Amino acid sequence: MKIFRLVLAISVFVFSLSTSGKRQGRVASPDGALILTAGINKSGQPYYQLQRGGRMIVNPSLLGMKLGDGPLDSDFSVLGFSTASVDETWQQPWGEEAGVRNNYRELTMRLRQRHGRQRLLTLVFRVFNDGIGFRYVFPKQSGLGDFVIMDEETQFAFPFDAKAWTMPTQGTVYYEGLWKAAPLSTKPEVSTPVTMEVDDSLYMVVHEANLTDYAGLNLRPVAAPKGTAVVKAQLVPWSTGELVFAKAPFVSPWRTVIVAKDPAGLAASRLMLNLNEPCRIKDTSWLETGKYVGVWWGMHMNDMTWAQGPKHGATTANTRRYIDFAAAHRLSGVLVEGWNYGWDGDWTKEGDKFSFTKPYPDYDLEGLQRYALSKGVRLIAHNETGGAAGNYEQQLDSAFALYHRLGIKVVKTGYVNAKLDGRELQHSQYGVRHYRKVIETAAKYRLMVINHEPAMPSGLQRTYPNLVSGEGARGQEYNAWSEDGGNPAYHLCVLPFTRILAGPLDFTPGIFRIEGRVHPQTYPHTTLAKQLAAYVVIYAPWQMAADEIENYAGQPAFTFIEQVPTNWQQSRVLMAKIGRYVVTARKERGGENWYVGGMTDEEARDLEVKFDFLDPDARYMAVIYRDGPDAAMDTNPYPMTIDRRMVDAKTVLPIHLAKGGGFAIQLVKQ
Ligand code: NOJ
Repeated sequence: MKIFRLVLAISVFVFSLSTSGKRQGRVASPDGALILTAGINKSGQPYYQLQRGGRMIVNPSLLGMKLGDGPLDSDFSVLGFSTASVDETWQQPWGEEAGVRNNYRELTMRLRQRHGRQRLLTLVFRVFNDGIGFRYVFPKQSGLGDFVIMDEETQFAFPFDAKAWTMPTQGTVYYEGLWKAAPLSTKPEVSTPVTMEVDDSLYMVVHEANLTDYAGLNLRPVAAPKGTAVVKAQLVPWSTGELVFAKAPFVSPWRTVIVAKDPAGLAASRLMLNLNEPCRIKDTSWLETGKYVGVWWGMHMNDMTWAQGPKHGATTANTRRYIDFAAAHRLSGVLVEGWNYGWDGDWTKEGDKFSFTKPYPDYDLEGLQRYALSKGVRLIAHNETGGAAGNYEQQLDSAFALYHRLGIKVVKTGYVNAKLDGRELQHSQYGVRHYRKVIETAAKYRLMVINHEPAMPSGLQRTYPNLVSGEGARGQEYNAWSEDGGNPAYHLCVLPFTRILAGPLDFTPGIFRIEGRVHPQTYPHTTLAKQLAAYVVIYAPWQMAADEIENYAGQPAFTFIEQVPTNWQQSRVLMAKIGRYVVTARKERGGENWYVGGMTDEEARDLEVKFDFLDPDARYMAVIYRDGPDAAMDTNPYPMTIDRRMVDAKTVLPIHLAKGGGFAIQLVKQ
């Protein structure tokens, strides 16, 4: 991957020495709108604060660590400040846009404790036009070798108590909860991202970037004056209580705050990617994006089983049908779950029994992959581990070597067990290390990974673009079997501004048979048109057409799924109100066509789509898939109108969205 470096200027100068009195440094974003100040307070504790256009948007917020053998949070003096600035544009092999501008100014604050072992700690702050990132650096030093983090004291202190969209950590596994809005101060402990609607012109998201060999970041409100809110880092612990085991020199992940004037600005931010390391995969030519079907929804609907038996889904004959379907509709992959030994008992508790190389007798792995390749399709491997990460690690090389030899390119992984290896949480340092090992091993065998039950994404796809997608959200499967009736209609209008800001989401859209079979009230609370809209609104470089293939027979709407790309040159949210509605436009990579997806919550609404993003000198044939007469989620989800008309950059299209409805538009340049 090429990195185009436009300007790289590094200037280092010492602001002051604390002994000579200067205790704080300051740096502005390249456009001057954000100003970050960092320093130490009277007890020698580090802090930072952030202003935007003269308004304080992060109050002085404390920083520091408690280590196993003592505090690293106070008694500091400042050794010096330095600054640097970067302006470069790098290219993504796949993504929501091709070129990403990385433009920031950096402030480094070097600290030393005055007493005891006189430990050193450095804080690095980067200020972009769209927010900030900062991290702890533990330099190599005689007073710090192996160490244990027992608490990270990072605070985010806000001068307002904004409406925040969050997911609680208690009672939520695998991040599969609903994102709900309430004042930040009233929240229990929540995971990140945390998305705040402060007012009409200020939206902020707190999260982390480059989660490497560390514990996942949760946040917990702490006492704050009325009308304000302060949250503090709460790292996910090991089962033994420690948070992070480390050895100096060491760096923490970046703590990030995206700042935007509207929801579209949040979605446009590439700060998280920019705070990850450049690509480590030298030759990325083997990476692909695509669409897939799968022997999958049938299991979730109880029509088939993962385990052997009369309803076994992963049979040779059934898989051939899926391969034929994929070939006929120009989809590149077929996911098959339940193909390997290990599913017959209670696999959620007995993950050690999974083999990742041994197919069931009624599944001809090698023959099927040969058959698929002959038709221009590839199998997608499925590795459910039941959380038995150790068992999986032992088989990683042999399994991935097998898949590589067969020409398989994508593996979907899964960890259905609240604890990895019966002990450790997914987003603990243990889990973070495990997932990294899987991604790195997969890269060695030229495999792409779709990680279900992951640690929350943190932009690692920049460094490892073979990490193509993941779950970490209440996906479509909840619309099959969830006892609470499935995902509420607003859910898909929240995800683009919360979970998907963290990274691509394998939501698995495309359910065309919208009815409850496992529970009568559990089914997608959408219209058919909204299922199509998800292919544009919900970003993923690999998108599933998730329904059983019979349900696509004779459906003109399937043409949209066939044609919608999954790799983009440009992406833009045209209008949105978080949790209410969202309209997204994306331009295909390597072509001139645009796609637009729009969706609403449980309310019907009328929107006007302006096509002013189109090439002003061109005309486009718009193929419009929209809710038909009387369509409504729950009562009448199927009516859809498909029409065509010519549009140009001046066109304004009024469009009606039914309750729980949506639309999808293909714009073909003439
Ligand atoms: C949960 C995953 O999210 C789902 O996609 C998969 O089918 C099951 N685990 C079984 O692995």
